[in-house]
Amino acid sequence: MGLSLTNLKCDYLINPIGIDGCTPSFGWQLLSDAKNVLQTAYQVIVKKGIEVVWNTGKQKSEQSAFLRYEGKALVSRTGYVWEVTVWDNQGNTASASGEFETAILSVEEWEAKWIEPVQTPAFHEPSQSTMESETSAVEEIKMQPPQMVRKEFTLSRPIQSARVYATAHGVYYMELNGSRVGDIQLAPGNTAYDKYLEYQVYDVTNQLRVGNNAVGMVIGDGWYVGKVGICGQSCQYGDTLAALFQIEVTYEDGTREMVVSDGQCTSSTGHILYADIFVGEAQDFTKKKEGFSRAGFSEEGWKPVTIKDYSYQNLYAPYGEPVRICETLKPVKIWKSPQGDVILDVGQVLCGRVRMRARGEKGTKIVLEHTETIDKEGNYQYNIIGKFVLQQDTCILNGDGEEVFEPEFTFHGFRYIRISGYPGKPTIEDFDILVLHSDMKQTGTFQCSDERLNQLQHNIFWSQKSNMLSIPTDCPQREKAGWTGDVQIFAPTACFNMDMIAFFKRWLRNVEKEQKEDGQIPNIVPYLLAYNPNGVMPSNTHCSSGWGDVAVILPWKMYEAYGDRSVLSEYYPMMKKWVEYIRYTAETEVPKEKEGKLTEEEMEIQKYLWNTNFHFGDWLTPSVSFDFETGDVDMMQSAFRTMDIVPTTFYAYSTELIAKIARELGKKEDAEYYQELNRKVRYAFRKEYVNEHGLIKTELQGVYVLALQMNLIPQNRRENAVNKLVSMIQENGNKLDTGFLSVPFLLDVLCNAGKSDVAYDLLFQDGCPSWLYEVKMGATTMWEAWQAVLPDGTNTSVSYNHYAFGCVGDWMYRTIGGLNQLLPGYKKILIAPQLDERLTSASISYDSSYGLIVARWKRDGKKMIVDVTIPANTTARIKLPGGDTIETGSGSYVYEYKMG
Ligand code: BGC
Repeated sequence: MGLSLTNLKCDYLINPIGIDGCTPSFGWQLLSDAKNVLQTAYQVIVKKGIEVVWNTGKQKSEQSAFLRYEGKALVSRTGYVWEVTVWDNQGNTASASGEFETAILSVEEWEAKWIEPVQTPAFHEPSQSTMESETSAVEEIKMQPPQMVRKEFTLSRPIQSARVYATAHGVYYMELNGSRVGDIQLAPGNTAYDKYLEYQVYDVTNQLRVGNNAVGMVIGDGWYVGKVGICGQSCQYGDTLAALFQIEVTYEDGTREMVVSDGQCTSSTGHILYADIFVGEAQDFTKKKEGFSRAGFSEEGWKPVTIKDYSYQNLYAPYGEPVRICETLKPVKIWKSPQGDVILDVGQVLCGRVRMRARGEKGTKIVLEHTETIDKEGNYQYNIIGKFVLQQDTCILNGDGEEVFEPEFTFHGFRYIRISGYPGKPTIEDFDILVLHSDMKQTGTFQCSDERLNQLQHNIFWSQKSNMLSIPTDCPQREKAGWTGDVQIFAPTACFNMDMIAFFKRWLRNVEKEQKEDGQIPNIVPYLLAYNPNGVMPSNTHCSSGWGDVAVILPWKMYEAYGDRSVLSEYYPMMKKWVEYIRYTAETEVPKEKEGKLTEEEMEIQKYLWNTNFHFGDWLTPSVSFDFETGDVDMMQSAFRTMDIVPTTFYAYSTELIAKIARELGKKEDAEYYQELNRKVRYAFRKEYVNEHGLIKTELQGVYVLALQMNLIPQNRRENAVNKLVSMIQENGNKLDTGFLSVPFLLDVLCNAGKSDVAYDLLFQDGCPSWLYEVKMGATTMWEAWQAVLPDGTNTSVSYNHYAFGCVGDWMYRTIGGLNQLLPGYKKILIAPQLDERLTSASISYDSSYGLIVARWKRDGKKMIVDVTIPANTTARIKLPGGDTIETGSGSYVYEYKMG
């Protein structure tokens, strides 16, 4: 077949419309039947119509991903075609082309006005709310309805193409001439609205017509006005809903016309009585404003809108994949509980919402309550705490045949739904379960001979899907917040499972904007008011070690996974500022109890210890935070127990990474500076915490893991420290006792010290706490805490959908599957499975920046079969377990041999 090109991406997407970038990046993948294929040269030509705006010429280079545009300045709102030609080392050539379209590249081009319907401002929930569930009845919560706006307009000539640019203060959907625009949900998404607000770009060519047209928009509270976070604080960015839209029509004769939001729009409330991301949504079908987005609709009772001078400076083009309904599931069961409730089981803990069909009399009220748990008897049980986390949707029927209810502006974390008031007997046929997340492509698959491990990967993947709704979150129910620590921990696993690069970059843009002047990276991004110092957390600063370090760790992990250097360069200033914050804090602050008591020599050491202020520490360390008998949880205890020592381990980690990053970016002086800082931090750590035997006073597995991983134990005492770690594990009945920050390194630290048997013991453990305990207890996602379900089947009030402890997924891909990179982005691949008696086969695949990598192995006694696929334009080293090491190029290979 020769050579062909596939997966042409511009700014990480296929044929995107509405990109901001003045320097978009281009990538393509080579497909070939031949073996050992490498690209030897490429040529990229970018055209605007027939004008060539960039021609790279034939470049001798293997680069086939993340090539930066360096042509003429791109013009706003314009379509471009790009063509790529590739030459390979087998004498073949191939060409392909893609398209992209720029968005609104300068603020002056906004002709639309911010408009605000006449509305009662939202109720300001007090800023010092508690997180206790105080409200049980939805009726007691003060909420305002979503707002609708509409406008009619006439188009005079045949239309060649049309685009909509739209956004809102709140979340919105739009309709044109009676049909919905696009399939994006909850636009513009969860974002730091005041600093980084994306507009959406839609191709509406087929929705407009010559003559009379109408546009309608419905705006709900979303993250702008709604009651968010664990204490349900409202009005993060404002207390009124507003809209902005610009429709640009290009006629067949080449002329253009604009239709924009302005004073001619009118507004009204409609059938959505309220919609809140945490509380839930209520719709009254008797109040439907049928046809509001069609020309000729009667505007009786509609009100004028006011024009506002809100900023355009914070507006950005869409970046990465939007939120969509990515899957539709059928429930598996419906029953009447012993307490008389009708309960629906979806069969899977997830994030999304329901679509329900019902027929009933006018005024019939149906209530749907979402939960992740039922009790042992099969009764409804609500596991989520939080002030307004009701997760309750309501619909009132109009009584005209089959009616379909689907919330617009909310989503829930759930597996079960209690249904009240349904007319007649509901069946599973009456429900569709809509799974919501940002629409990234799945890139990884994992299978092995132990079904429990396959279920574990399934659970990890579902927690990932549930927590990637426009930003990476901790959980999809209680907080739905962009906790920086959680994603730092989980990122490598996330990058195996899905194509995360654009999604993470979009969130990092938010992180950058939320960074404080002094370099602090808030614990949560977008940063919610209630989590500010002295808010709901016992914190005197905005940040915590291991959380704020996301600024350095995440870009590095993305670079490793994808090989895109821009991730490092774009966020380098942010990383530097963060590391400088740590350095300054460490140098200038002394723990209270040590003030005035240190010798000069001790003061010198002190300067490199990050040991003041509040930190979450090795969060949720099992033995410190949980009572396994009663299920009692005291989360803060792991913070108090470990926050004196853990921050310095992350000071070491971040300085080590930023030194590497500086080197990657060719910043030699910086690299040396951070290297030296790292050396001093490690020296100080040893002096302060490590005794002459290599032992540490804080006797916790997690602290040892971090100290070993960050290279904080002198070489000649490492073995002692490893032995200590192993003995702690064994004394704990071969069970882990690591918290959030250390668990990602636990199994690696053991394997690197030659203790892969102990690592596998931990993996195969199924007593509590362990990964397979959760599987054994029927988990379908990852739990926040290991003992979420106690051994006797009692459910506790924690989240059943937190991905952090799912970070073991990455280890399973790398160790069981054996897939690692020797060069960033898998330009050079290492396949080196580490076997264990308890497994007889494994099979993984990963769709890398260069194409599909497959690694499979199967063992039958001493007979081994290894089977790999290496994509074109990469090379690989294959370490056959118990056999040879092979260097190879692309192609599919099967190795059959007897293990030595
Ligand atoms: C969240 C986390 C988060 C933590 C901070 C919790 O409430 O759900 O996952 O990282 O607080 O320690």
